[in-house]
Amino acid sequence: MNIRNLLRSIRAEYRGIAAIAERAFALHTVPDYRLNQILLEDILFNIALAACPSVIVELGTGRGGSKSSRAFRRALTVMRRRGHGGGHLYTCDVDPVAIELLAGKSQVSGFNVTTDQFAAVWRDQINKPIDLLFIDADHSHEQSLKDFLAFAPFVRPNGLCLMHDTHPVDEEHEKLRYSGEVWRTASYIKRHCSDEWEISTLPFLSGISILRKAGSKYF
Ligand SMILES: C[S@@+](CC[C@H](N)C(=O)[O-])C[C@H]1O[C@@H](n2cnc3c(N)ncnc32)[C@H](O)[C@@H]1O
Repeated sequence: MNIRNLLRSIRAEYRGIAAIAERAFALHTVPDYRLNQILLEDILFNIALAACPSVIVELGTGRGGSKSSRAFRRALTVMRRRGHGGGHLYTCDVDPVAIELLAGKSQVSGFNVTTDQFAAVWRDQINKPIDLLFIDADHSHEQSLKDFLAFAPFVRPNGLCLMHDTHPVDEEHEKLRYSGEVWRTASYIKRHCSDEWEISTLPFLSGISILRKAGSKYF
């Protein structure tokens, strides 16, 4: 390694350490709501990074502060720097602003359509196996189940599906404008799809369910 490359790598390493220190300090000072957002983003980031997915599908992009999109994009960037550059995030939202904000970002394709329309696009045009599916769009039981059932067949054996809002913090949060009825969908999957999916729900941050499709050699 020549001096220039050595200096470059020291600078990159320093920036990494400084970012971690800043983040650790920020965690002491941010309000609880913001802390929960950071924790959610970090959980999604770490799961995505560990899974090293080639194809991520996100239903419900969310606007600028979107935790999930940012988490998945961060994971794709780290993977690229570590030599796994082929990953791609496909994301959809009915809100045009949410999709516009992703314009020009690398390794991302945004679709300004409903999840039902996106399911048809996936089936008829993209038709790729999915390594990581994230469901966080309409919070009604009917639609979140429809979303799961439409995309689940594309998830690879041993692939993951993450669902947010599966454990409302209280009864008020069972309203559709908060976590809604997604917990019913997680419960339905547990009761009716256990031949093909195992599911576990983290009962915090409004509930994050981690589903794994059967197919591994081990269990
Ligand atoms: C809870 S927000 C997503 C938050 C985002 N995933 C994050 O982590 O910050 C839900 C998003 O789903 C979108 N949405 C709701 N119903 C939808 C549907 N049927 N099809 C597509 N997008 C939908 C909304 O416009 C909203 O941006």
